[in-house]
Amino acid sequence: MPTRLFHISDVHFGVEDRAALDAVARAVADERPDALVCTGDLTQRAKHSEYAAAQAWFASLGVPVVLEPGNHDMPYYNPWERFTDPFRRYERLKAAVGGGFCSSDVVLVPLRTTVSAQTRFPWSDGVVRPAALQATLDALAALKGDPRTIIVIAHHPLLGPQEARKNPTIGGDEAFARIAAAGADAVISGHVHVPFDEQREVDGRSMRMIGTGTLSTRLRHGAPPSWRVITCAPGGVIETRLRIAAATTVTQPDEAAL
Ligand SMILES: [Fe+2]
Repeated sequence: MPTRLFHISDVHFGVEDRAALDAVARAVADERPDALVCTGDLTQRAKHSEYAAAQAWFASLGVPVVLEPGNHDMPYYNPWERFTDPFRRYERLKAAVGGGFCSSDVVLVPLRTTVSAQTRFPWSDGVVRPAALQATLDALAALKGDPRTIIVIAHHPLLGPQEARKNPTIGGDEAFARIAAAGADAVISGHVHVPFDEQREVDGRSMRMIGTGTLSTRLRHGAPPSWRVITCAPGGVIETRLRIAAATTVTQPDEAAL
């Protein structure tokens, strides 16, 4: 039986879409995925009340949860905390409900693309700092020769849309090429609130980029709330299905391959 992951992102507790979250929770209860991965923007403004709502929801699922922080997950109203200890609230949530995940089919490796400040606006866009990239490359080096599928999880897509001239993620091109060269099969992410699944190439290094949509009311470019089922077998075998939940109405999720 291949490993089945639910990939969700950009829940933005505070402006979450309750109907979409209920649909995911029902699917978790019915289908019991091996793990649920959330690639950041767990909260809208990183308020304690939003983190409490996130903790309650994740804890209620009863399956392993893997988290990565997004740009919305650092304190917004407390600049002192944002600059001195930006991930304290996130780390508290992760300690309560999150962890790592691997199986006989797949290994998940984190990559931090979220920073508390940068020299450009908007601060919401991604940055792959050298230390963050090195930590991911070290983890991939330790997996060299491992037959399992290796998936890197990050909040920001490492590359922009194919038609875009500029990559909004600073350091994303280099990170993509080096992570692909280090043996990762795919990188999964969120942030843009629009789903995608495409094979991309940088400097002759090819890797799959998979993104899921939002489960919040912050819809972008007409994309409805969505999440993804990712099925993995060893050797880089990855199948994905996007599931769409109509905003504000509880529906049986439709499945549509991307
Ligand atoms: Fe984001």
